[in-house]
Amino acid sequence: MEIGFLHSVIRKDEKLLIEEFNTRKNVTLNMIDDRTLKFDLKKKQFNYDAVIERSINHSRALHALRLFESNGIRCINSFQVASVCGDKLLTSAMLQDKHIPQPDLKIAFTEESALEAIEEMGYPVVLKPAVGSWGRLLSKINDRDAAESILEHKTVLGTYHHSIFYIQKYVEKKGRDIRSFVVGDECIAAIYRTSPHWITNTAKGGVPSKCEVTPEIAELSVKAAKAVGGGVLALDIFETENGYEINEVNYTMEFKNSIATTGVNIPQKVVDYVLKVAGGENG
Ligand SMILES: Nc1ncnc2c1ncn2[C@@H]1O[C@H](COP(=O)(O)OP(=O)(O)OP(=O)(O)O)[C@@H](O)[C@H]1O
Ligand SMILES: [Mg+2]
Repeated sequence: MEIGFLHSVIRKDEKLLIEEFNTRKNVTLNMIDDRTLKFDLKKKQFNYDAVIERSINHSRALHALRLFESNGIRCINSFQVASVCGDKLLTSAMLQDKHIPQPDLKIAFTEESALEAIEEMGYPVVLKPAVGSWGRLLSKINDRDAAESILEHKTVLGTYHHSIFYIQKYVEKKGRDIRSFVVGDECIAAIYRTSPHWITNTAKGGVPSKCEVTPEIAELSVKAAKAVGGGVLALDIFETENGYEINEVNYTMEFKNSIATTGVNIPQKVVDYVLKVAGGENG
């Protein structure tokens, strides 16, 4: 079996996946560095049975996936999933279409309408770039003064991505959130990320600990993963007074901090799934 491994720099997560692939018989792993990759649109250049996408660059990942799919290659995750999950607004819309619980959300396109939307929602709110990750450029806005200031900064200094105002209600979440991992039809593991800071990402110092995958967490996680197209996905879940809510869905999931914490061999499950898809199953 020929597997393409799309990557930029090789982080610990990628190393673990590569090691796992190398234990499998009859599997050849073809490393594809997105920094040197060239596509010829009119040629069938690639003959992989599947491509696993592990790029750190959303834009490269997204467009490369589209081009691999043009070559008839199954990708994990698909272009469709990457395009939805790479954009918080599209993710929220897909979740809403399938009636998956999520925090209250308003969208606006100008400084003025965004301020109105924030005032209607009530403080605190969280403003996020629709495209972004690792907890960067999130703003918790506690009052009108802060709202005006942040909106003005975004308008004057922001890039194209900041011209869409994604305004979420701030959720009281007991100092932690849940990160669950879905592979195909299964929620394979979950962790809590606990932090004294309201942003609990491990990249920002959140501390991982084991979270038991209850039937409720499993069912919601798989449903939410399927709502965005399914595959290998990591979900952020808030525990709220109204029950669980999905905050977001990540499509190039990072798991290195979660293997020892959960006792689950995550790379093994991911590789099993990739080989299943490469073999022609839907996973
Ligand atoms: N509405 C909210 N209410 C409370 N906390 C929030 C809210 N939105 C985000 N957070 C906190 O900030 C963290 C990062 O937010 P989010 O996951 O939306 O952004 P991200 O930058 O895309 O992170 P990721 O690297 O997971 O893609 C969340 O895990 C959570 O701890
Ligand atoms: Mg997140």
